[in-house]
Amino acid sequence: MGRRGLSRAVKRAPTPPEAIQRYIRFWLFEDELASCGQALPPIDALNLFGRQGPMELEVGCGTGEFLCALASSHPDCLYLGVDPSTQSVLFGARLAFEARLDNILFIRGPMNALYMHLRPGVFRQAYMHFPDPYVRNRGTHKMMNASFLAHLAYALAPGGRFSFVSDHEALFAEALALVESLPDDWQRTHPERFLMGYEPPLKSRYQLKWERWQVEPRRFEVQVLPRRRTLWTASSP
Ligand SMILES: C[S@@+](CC[C@H](N)C(=O)[O-])C[C@H]1O[C@@H](n2cnc3c(N)ncnc32)[C@H](O)[C@@H]1O
Repeated sequence: MGRRGLSRAVKRAPTPPEAIQRYIRFWLFEDELASCGQALPPIDALNLFGRQGPMELEVGCGTGEFLCALASSHPDCLYLGVDPSTQSVLFGARLAFEARLDNILFIRGPMNALYMHLRPGVFRQAYMHFPDPYVRNRGTHKMMNASFLAHLAYALAPGGRFSFVSDHEALFAEALALVESLPDDWQRTHPERFLMGYEPPLKSRYQLKWERWQVEPRRFEVQVLPRRRTLWTASSP
């Protein structure tokens, strides 16, 4: 099934209203404008979950299987999934509701719209797995770019990690070259330049799809260097 067929399959799943209310925060451009940037609270554990705790972020969480599996096996950690696809986060909310998770939330919105809501040192780990290689703006990838890495470096706790996985060779090479061009900000957590294959506790539907087609994903994980804790602005696409 292609990328479009997969999202059509997701649309068929009904999500109870209480699951929507409990697990999804909708970011709307109109609300953002009308409230002068106050439409969402600052993104931190207390504001989102009403309690403190280590937090992890998945950017482009899709239908949320990977994040729900993490949330279920690490109840002491708080998980935030960000994705602009309404149908995908509805599906993720249904999974969280059915598993009775109380440590996961989804924000329906594009990651770049949330930059102004980020706070320093909030996340201990971030994931961007299987981003669509074709979402580009004037040649720059919409999700994985210098602006994203700068904002992520700000929002990660000192030593916080970022895992990137892709089935797409050219996008993976571009992402790897980008982090390697920022040696003052990021260092790899593994001696290899990159890793072949990925064995998480639960594979996302995209990973399973590519594996069925015998495409082995590539992965790197980097750690933010503690001395780069200030936010600089890069032109964001
Ligand atoms: C191929 S799916 C991968 C989903 C999930 N990570 C997985 O492994 O199954 C890529 C996801 O990125 C989301 N996406 C696209 N643009 C985005 C953006 N600007 N910010 C966050 N997510 C985005 C899409 O809606 C889609 O759900």
